[in-house]
Amino acid sequence: MLDNKFILDACCGGRMMWFNKKHPNTIYIDIRKEKKGHIAAVPNHEVNPDIVMDFRNMDFPDKSFKLVVWDVPHLLSNRCGQNGIFRKKFGCLNAETWQSDLKKGFSECWRVLDDYGVLVFKWNDKNIPANKVLQLLPERPLFGNISSGSSHKNASKTYWFCFMKIPIANMEVKGNSS
Ligand SMILES: C[S@@+](CC[C@H](N)C(=O)[O-])C[C@H]1O[C@@H](n2cnc3c(N)ncnc32)[C@H](O)[C@@H]1O
Repeated sequence: MLDNKFILDACCGGRMMWFNKKHPNTIYIDIRKEKKGHIAAVPNHEVNPDIVMDFRNMDFPDKSFKLVVWDVPHLLSNRCGQNGIFRKKFGCLNAETWQSDLKKGFSECWRVLDDYGVLVFKWNDKNIPANKVLQLLPERPLFGNISSGSSHKNASKTYWFCFMKIPIANMEVKGNSS
């Protein structure tokens, strides 16, 4: 464990979802830094990670964290405006490489997660359906908010999926061989 930092936010952006934006047990990383004022319409938004780091290639030892939260960009680079507010706030996925980027990111999040650790994956299906992204991943979530359709035809939906890194030896109940 890294100095009592047992939680990782693997792409923290503006930390908007955090109730405590400086949680003492958390390391916040992002691939970029942005100063306050980088979005005129949202003057307080900043991207100020503890460490500038790429979630596809993290500089942490294996099994460093008990909880990893992974709130990746969900808009494709060819479908969000070059100077749009969403791109500035949330970044975007490279339209050419997003599948391999997400695969690499997930496998890194999994590598740095301790046994029995929890990975929370957040996704929005505005450009890419959640099922399509889950199919890319080598692990299955335990639970999440499953889409039940929307009354609004074009409304997008945000999903939260919860994974646990259960060691293979404990995947089934031992002694239950009758
Ligand atoms: C949806 S936003 C995160 C929003 C954040 N959870 C919040 O509450 O404000 C996604 C973030 O992922 C970052 N990002 C994109 N690619 C990354 C990568 N390869 N490694 C680390 N961060 C990345 C973007 O810079 C962006 O800030």
